[in-house]
Amino acid sequence: MTITETTTYPIDLLLLADPEEQAIQAYITRSSCYVKEMDGKVVGTYVILPTRPHTMEIMNIAVEESLQGKGIGKQLIQHAIQTSRELGYTSIEIGTGNSSIPQLYLYQKCGFRIVGIDKDYFTQHYDEPIFENGLQCRDMVRLRQYI
Ligand code: ACO
Ligand code: ACO
Repeated sequence: MTITETTTYPIDLLLLADPEEQAIQAYITRSSCYVKEMDGKVVGTYVILPTRPHTMEIMNIAVEESLQGKGIGKQLIQHAIQTSRELGYTSIEIGTGNSSIPQLYLYQKCGFRIVGIDKDYFTQHYDEPIFENGLQCRDMVRLRQYI
């Protein structure tokens, strides 16, 4: 698995996970960004940021649209967990929208448990309303696992 750290942020991919570039800019320079390449092309990415003592958060994770559903997302999460563990963190967190049903499924399959809800996070922090599958994204579902 060729997943490496980079300072050349794949913004097109990052925007798939987070539709506001301003929001990405707010965390990207304080974070570490990793990419998966296939045939010299970036096909997936994740971004991790230490948020509290002992705690790392996956701020962004995305796979190129044509390659989604083939297990790359799962590989990226497993790599993020391993990287965080090697860096000495004991807890990893991820947050996603109430409307992101496949993502909630994936994160729980990767060992995360739901630990809370930031009610109205997306309606308060994002300029444009976000809809997924006809459902408005309003609340942030927060998940965590000990590693
Ligand atoms: N419905 C049900 N299950 C699904 C779906 C779906 N639509 N999509 C994937 N899964 C399942 C797979 O079946 C697989 O489970 P399995 O191992 O039991 O077969 C599991 O989820 C893993 O799927 P992957 O193929 O590894 O997922 P993928 O490579 O598509 O990556 C990701 C997932 C990153 C969410 C990708 O789809 C993506 O880039 N989406 C757009 C951006 C996005 O939403 N990013 C997350 C935002 S939240 C954040 O960034 C913190
Ligand atoms: N994935 C995504 N969307 C779905 C799914 C699914 N698996 N199933 C239904 N939907 C959507 C439909 O598309 C529809 O949305 P739309 O109006 O935008 O098209 C909406 O949900 C309503 O679907 P219905 O066809 O009305 O749902 P159904 O008649 O299947 O009833 C129910 C839902 C009661 C959950 C039924 O599937 C069932 O009896 N399941 C087994 C028992 C169960 O789980 N009960 C709930 C337990 S919790 C509780 O009882 C408090």
